[in-house]
Amino acid sequence: MKKSLVASVAAVASVAAAFAAAPRAERAALARELAASGIVLLENRDCILPLEKNEEIALVGITGYCCHRMGWGSGDMLAHEPVQIDAGLSKAGVRLDAGFAKLYRDEVAKRDLSRVNRDWFKWTRRFDEPKIPSADFAKLSVGKRAEKCVVVIGRCTGESEDIPEAPGGWRLHQEEERLLADACAAFENVVVLLNAPGVLDTSFMDRYPVKSLVFVPFLGETTGDAVADVLTGKVNPSGKTVDTWAKAYRFYPSTDCWQSSEIAYEEGQFVGYRYFDLAEMDADAFKGLKDAVRYPFGYGLSYTTFEVTSSNSVRRLDDSRSSVSVTVRNTGRVPGADVVQCYVSFIPAQPKVFTRFVKRLCAFAKTPVIAPGASEEVTLYFDASDIARYNRETATWEIPSGEYTLLVGDSPSSLAVVSKQTLDASVVVQKVKGRFRGKCAAGAREEFAKPASPVKMADVVSGKAKVEDLVAQFTDEELAAVVIGRIFDGQGYNVEGGTGVGGVKKGRVDCEAGETWSSEKYGFGAITTSDGPSGVRLSNFNEPAEKYNPLCSAVVSWPCATALAQSWDVAAAERFGRAIASEMALTDIDCWLAPGVNIHRNPLCGRNFEYFSEDPLIAGLMGAAVVKGVQTNEDGTPSGRSATVKHFCVNNQEFERATENNIVDEVTLREIYLKPFEIVVRRARPNMVMSSYNKLNGDFCATTYDLMTGVLREEWGFDGFVMTDWWNSADKLRHPAAGNDLVMPGSRGEYDALVAAMKDGRVRRADVQRAAANILGVYARITAAKGK
Ligand code: BGC
Repeated sequence: MKKSLVASVAAVASVAAAFAAAPRAERAALARELAASGIVLLENRDCILPLEKNEEIALVGITGYCCHRMGWGSGDMLAHEPVQIDAGLSKAGVRLDAGFAKLYRDEVAKRDLSRVNRDWFKWTRRFDEPKIPSADFAKLSVGKRAEKCVVVIGRCTGESEDIPEAPGGWRLHQEEERLLADACAAFENVVVLLNAPGVLDTSFMDRYPVKSLVFVPFLGETTGDAVADVLTGKVNPSGKTVDTWAKAYRFYPSTDCWQSSEIAYEEGQFVGYRYFDLAEMDADAFKGLKDAVRYPFGYGLSYTTFEVTSSNSVRRLDDSRSSVSVTVRNTGRVPGADVVQCYVSFIPAQPKVFTRFVKRLCAFAKTPVIAPGASEEVTLYFDASDIARYNRETATWEIPSGEYTLLVGDSPSSLAVVSKQTLDASVVVQKVKGRFRGKCAAGAREEFAKPASPVKMADVVSGKAKVEDLVAQFTDEELAAVVIGRIFDGQGYNVEGGTGVGGVKKGRVDCEAGETWSSEKYGFGAITTSDGPSGVRLSNFNEPAEKYNPLCSAVVSWPCATALAQSWDVAAAERFGRAIASEMALTDIDCWLAPGVNIHRNPLCGRNFEYFSEDPLIAGLMGAAVVKGVQTNEDGTPSGRSATVKHFCVNNQEFERATENNIVDEVTLREIYLKPFEIVVRRARPNMVMSSYNKLNGDFCATTYDLMTGVLREEWGFDGFVMTDWWNSADKLRHPAAGNDLVMPGSRGEYDALVAAMKDGRVRRADVQRAAANILGVYARITAAKGK
């Protein structure tokens, strides 16, 4: 290691130690709390969970001793050694059968498994199970039939690959089948923990007499503790599914139009439960869907029971804000929290214009922990915009005429009608412009007028000058430098062949994902970026652990987005965002490259764990809460840290993600795929948006004006900047006119090409000025906030 680097790492380490010592324990405690509330109890026959105090169990399956704490790629946190499930259970006082524990622990040590999935492109989807002949398994369990056996099945996934619909991917591997068969033959009470990125095939529940099934998504560094909290009943599980768990992959509506270079979204708006519900609407037409769902959206068990009643106090749906008041009573024997869900069911008066839905989530709330016998009053609110539908004919969002039913409950099977209303005439909520109907380009813009006297960034920050005045002074070269991200090697600017990640900045921390240009002349620094969404991810690619920047472990490895969503707890998501902001302050990162709010269109998408749900409302509200937490302090003032909503939009598969084309009609796009972005932008005003790699209806998203400017800025009022995803394939010279402001991580070639194109008029200087002003406007905003 170079001497200067050693010195700077040591300096950063001491800062980290001084700054982080006390709060880290608090942040890790929050991570553990979030992790436990993101676990879903899917099955619990004979109430075999929770485990008894000091109970002895057999813990089997290699993942029980080496868990999947995170997926790979941007959603990993490489430096963290998680609390393993065996360790968490032991700490919690659960006795582990010594024979099995030794066998698996030896295996993990022998194969050095905790290092696997650390190195880029050496990822593994699952760990091979140790070869234990069935006879040996039986021998190890002799005389223990009445013990509980916890079988942990693990799956990993991540960026740039989808999950194969094959054994070892979506389905159980033959080694796992054998393990389950052996476990069920030897033990009466088998619990399966699915430590996986999301929905997997659960047909094994029909083949083996498994009594309890627990979905343990990627939970970060506190995995083992959180699992122990739930298994021992220290935390009563309150997580609910955020996706539909169908009985087989073939039941999902997108299976025929998925994983190709061009995908027509044939299922339209019928994504997730909206599709599976069709069986309820028309049993004959959707015969194939009868009994297709094993665990529906919004489902999850508890160690207690609840009763949800409503006072029927719903006002007219066409009011701008409606509310439903609900009483939740704990009717069981142990304390627990519940999730109340409100759905709207709709039969349109104009079926040619609006599709009918059996139900759509329109509001939800998490209760606090309720003591046995006690009750909690919960009010669910929703706005007209939460139930509005898009009318393509008139380009209006409206509450269409028709029959509405509001349903409330704490799981899909307990929904009760709280209101029925008929709306005779449609109510227009917002008039917009019909878009996505062929090419739409930016009109000519005027260049900014030069200011009368020189302007520096400090003048913009203090409000003395406008950012447009600052930008008006820039040469073509300076403009290009602002809008093409800087690849930094610690020495200079735009290093040819640099990777754009893992640069070491003098006086600041390794910012992992790259940064923007800084200028002494105009008095502004760089904006540093780091992934997201599983924590503040600092660079350490392929480094041995002992060389890791100490700040990497000063920050926490958090539960993944799906886990957060499964808590259905928006307030908790905001607390998470706030903790991220404090870690950004600790590591000197300005811009966090998360949250991701893409829809779980297909359960095999490799990055689903980085996203929240199949439902746009929960994805949007969770995303908005995280952004709010990152960008604002508790008192509502700006924190000076920024979040980036990604990947805008329809990035729903990893297969050929850099070029694949998504054909989506305008209504589906607006109501399903754009909706979470819209909710986040309108409610939480993120400073940044990241455009996706892929194409939408034939053009790259990053060069689609209707997306980058039309809906984002003109309709939703976005006032930050848009950056590309890393090394995207779109034509960089078309970015400024479309409204994609920043190219990340940037290269010398891209810089030179843009300068040349401005000079010969292929790219309008005014468009680049607008992009630069958007970027530096955010810089000024966050600098002003930091100065407070
Ligand atoms: C991912 C983004 C990420 C970026 C920077 C890309 O490969 O798609 O989600 O933020 O890299 O690391």
